[in-house]
Parts: sequence; C-alpha cells; structure tokens
Amino acid sequence: MLKFLSAFAASAVLASAFLVGCKPSEPTPGNGATGTSSTGADKIKIGFVVKQMDDTWFQQETKFATEKASELGIDLLVQEAKNGEAVLSAIETLATQGAKGLIICSPEVQLGTSIQKACESHNMKLMSVDDRLVGTDGKPLATIPHLGISAENIGKLVGKSIVDEMKVRGWKMDEAGAIAILKEGLETAELRVKGTRSELEAAGLPAAKIFIGPWTGAVDITAASNAANTIITRESATKKWVVFSSNDDGMMGAVRSLENAGIPVENIIGVGINGTTAAQDFKKKMQTGVFASVLLSPRTHGAQTVEMMAAWIKDGQSPEMETYTAGTVINRANYVEEMKKEGVLP
Ligand code: GLA
Repeated sequence: MLKFLSAFAASAVLASAFLVGCKPSEPTPGNGATGTSSTGADKIKIGFVVKQMDDTWFQQETKFATEKASELGIDLLVQEAKNGEAVLSAIETLATQGAKGLIICSPEVQLGTSIQKACESHNMKLMSVDDRLVGTDGKPLATIPHLGISAENIGKLVGKSIVDEMKVRGWKMDEAGAIAILKEGLETAELRVKGTRSELEAAGLPAAKIFIGPWTGAVDITAASNAANTIITRESATKKWVVFSSNDDGMMGAVRSLENAGIPVENIIGVGINGTTAAQDFKKKMQTGVFASVLLSPRTHGAQTVEMMAAWIKDGQSPEMETYTAGTVINRANYVEEMKKEGVLP
C-alpha cells in the first residue's frame, strides 16, 4: 500500500496490517510503557542510523526524530554510519544496548540483505528512511517499510523552477548547458535527476547539453565541485548554466565551481533539494548562483518514522510499506516564511 503525504502533512498513516520487516510483529510483552510514564530501565530503545551528519538534512531529521521519541517516552539511539562496515557494527552495538527497532538511511543501500539479516538475528524491526534498501539483485527490498520523498515529482518541481527562471532571464533554451551531479545507483537520486531532466528536455533544452557529473567517493559539496570542474573545463564554450542534483549539496558544489570558474551569478541557475543548505546562500546579501531549492520535511521523515516504529514495537501495528512526502519550492523571497512553517528556520 502506498501512502502519499501532501506537503508537510505528518498525519498518522498506520492503517494497514502487513507482516513486514525483520520479524513478524508481536506486541512487546509486559511493556505497557506509554508516553512519559516509562522509566529508564523499561524504556523502549530504537536505533536511528544515518549516512551523513555533515548534510544538514540529517541533522534536522534526527533532531525531529529525537524530539518525537522523547514525547513518546522512547530512547532514541542516533548514530552516523559512513560506510557499510560501520552500519553492521552499529547494528551490533544497538543490539547490545537492547534496541528493538532500527530506522536507517544507509550509506550503502546495496547492503540491504545483510542489514535485514543482521536485524533478524537480533530480533530488531527494520524500516528505511530517505534511501531505500535494495537486495542483491539491485531491486528495492519490498518487505522493508520505507518512508522517502516523492522523488521524480520533486525532481520535476526543480526542473519547472529552472525553466521558469530561464524564461524570466530571457535565456534561449539551446544556449544553456546543464550540470547534474548524480550518485549513480541510488534510486531516489536517479529518480530526482530523471524528473528534472525530463522537464528541461520538454522545455527545449537539448539532451546533448545535459552533462552528468558522477558523484563518487564522499557524497559531499567538495566531491560535487570536483565532478563539475571536469565538465566546466571541457565545455568552456558554454557561458550560461543551469545546475541540479539529488540534493542541495550536489547542486551547491557545482554552483561553487561555476562561480570559481568566473561565470557571473546572473548566468547560473542552481536549484537544489532539501532547502536547509541552500538557505545558507539565501541569507547572503549578494545573490549567488543558488537560485532556489525544494524544501522537504525533515520533521515528517524523523518524527513519523519514529512514530511508526514505536507503534510497531509497542502495539504490533505494522507500518505502511511505502510512504512518500512532498516539498515546496523556496527562494530568497519566501524561504523564511516556508522554513518557519516547517520548524527549520535558518
Ligand atoms: C537522500 C539525500 C538527503 C535528503 C534525503 C531526503 O538521503 O542524500 O540529502 O535529500 O534523501 O529523503
């Protein structure tokens, strides 16, 4: 069953009853802990493991997750795991600490089967957030409940925002080049970039002028910038650029490279996804190549996964198998208002 959430609607979506995840659902015996009545000893423990704390998205997501957990009287054990080995060792540590569930955004989604097996062996329920886990065949592991963004639609929003601004600036569609920084093999990233690409091509930007910069190694601003440099050097005849990626960091790395290469900011239209990092540029007095971003809801991702996992452990109520969230375009004009609404004021 799919659940689509309207922008930032964090309504309860615990309707269906599937037996999913690591273990068939079973109420936790003898643990009537609810709300703040739990004491340290009988508190339910849930692990929340994320791939990258230097991405502000994960700082926000885990903050909201922690807030929701304390509201529910749950002990949330937040950990960063930057590679597969760290994920598997985090699961062992969590098991030792008595965690009954794991919510994960894995740095290596291809480890899905190993993560699932490790959880099973420790009787830990498993959900993925943001990045969907895949099996050895590269296909999503459909038995693991997942909450992520509506990736292709959000990619399209990015594309629309770029095309609208190209029109405002009076650019001809065939005079601009596009840089897309992409982590290949990550479904949500591929779909986001695909959505943007389709909007650009539909508006007349030639497919041959869309250049993919593979985001390899560390998935951070520096690596994105390096990937963009190769394209910018090669395509030095192109003087106007649009930039997109699977998130703000990818877009911002490429924008910084264009700015450093001497492309004037009025010739750069960068549109990201997440909003929280892009907003750092909106705060700057002078306009930069970062034009807009799609603000997502770290609150929904953090709080709702914790809520679902808590209900699963406490009441045997299985989560929705797939939940997808939406986003809102933000720019210099509206970011303060929109981010306030989402509780992520920059
Ligand atoms: C991925 C990205 C993050 C953020 C989340 C949102 O994990 O790496 O920056 O966009 O998706 O689900």
